[in-house]
Amino acid sequence: MKGKQTKLVIAIDGFSSCGKSTMAKDIAKRMSYIYVDTGAMYRAVTLYALRMNWIKEDHVEKQLLIDALNDIHISFQYNEENQTNVTFLNGENIETEIRQLGVSNNVSVIAAIAEVRHHLVKLQQEFGNDGGVVMDGRDIGTVVFPHADLKVFMTADPLIRAKRRFDELNAKGDHVTLDEILANVEKRDYIDQNRDESPLTKADDAVVLDNSHITPSEQTALVMEWIQEKIEEKDL
Ligand code: DC
Repeated sequence: MKGKQTKLVIAIDGFSSCGKSTMAKDIAKRMSYIYVDTGAMYRAVTLYALRMNWIKEDHVEKQLLIDALNDIHISFQYNEENQTNVTFLNGENIETEIRQLGVSNNVSVIAAIAEVRHHLVKLQQEFGNDGGVVMDGRDIGTVVFPHADLKVFMTADPLIRAKRRFDELNAKGDHVTLDEILANVEKRDYIDQNRDESPLTKADDAVVLDNSHITPSEQTALVMEWIQEKIEEKDL
C-alpha cells in the first residue's frame, strides 16, 4: 500500500467521443470516488477567455490570460437530482455554456498553452492527493498522475465514434451530416495527438479499452474487473 492511501487513483485517457466521461462517472459512482472531468476545466478557462474577448479570429491574448489564471476559480458540485457533476466558474454554474459550440470550437487552442496546462495540472493533482478519484482527460496517466494505480486508455474506430455522435445530435434535432462529424472527429484526434504540450499518448502501463464493438455494460464490467484486480494486488 502507498503511504496512507486506501483508495485508488484511476486515470482514464483517450480520444474524444469515446464515452470517457460517461464511463468515468459510472465507475466513480460505483466506487464512491470523486469524479473529475479535466476537459471541463479547459472548457471553463476557454469560456473565461471568450468572455474577456481574448480569443480573436487569428490570435489569442495569451499573456493576458496567463496573468489572469489565478483569478479563474473552477469547482465542481455533484447534483443528486440528475446525478451529474456541475462545473462552476468563479461561483457561476457554467455547465451548459461550456458544452456549446463557441467553447468547443476554441478549447483546443487554449488547451495548447503550456502555462494554462501547468496551472490546471496542479489543481488536478490536488484533487487526487488522497486517492479515491476517477479523472478523465488526455494526459492523466502520462502527466497528471504518472503513478496512477489504474490507467485506462480508451479508443474506438473513428467512424463508429462519428456515428454515435451523429445519432446523439440527430436525436437533439441538430442537422449535421455524418461526413461533417467524421471530419471533426478526425481533426480533433489529430490536434490532440500532435500538439507540442502534453499530446495525447497512451502511457506505457495503460490498459487499452477499445469499445468499438462492446456495449457500455460490458465495458463497465471489464473496468470493474481491472479495479478489483488492483485492489487485490495492492491489498487495499
Ligand atoms: O474531453 P473534452 O472534449 O471536454 O475536452 C475539451 C478539450 O480539452 C479538448 O480539446 C481536449 C482538451 N483536454 C486536454 O488537452 N487535456 C485534458 N486533460 C482534457 C481535455
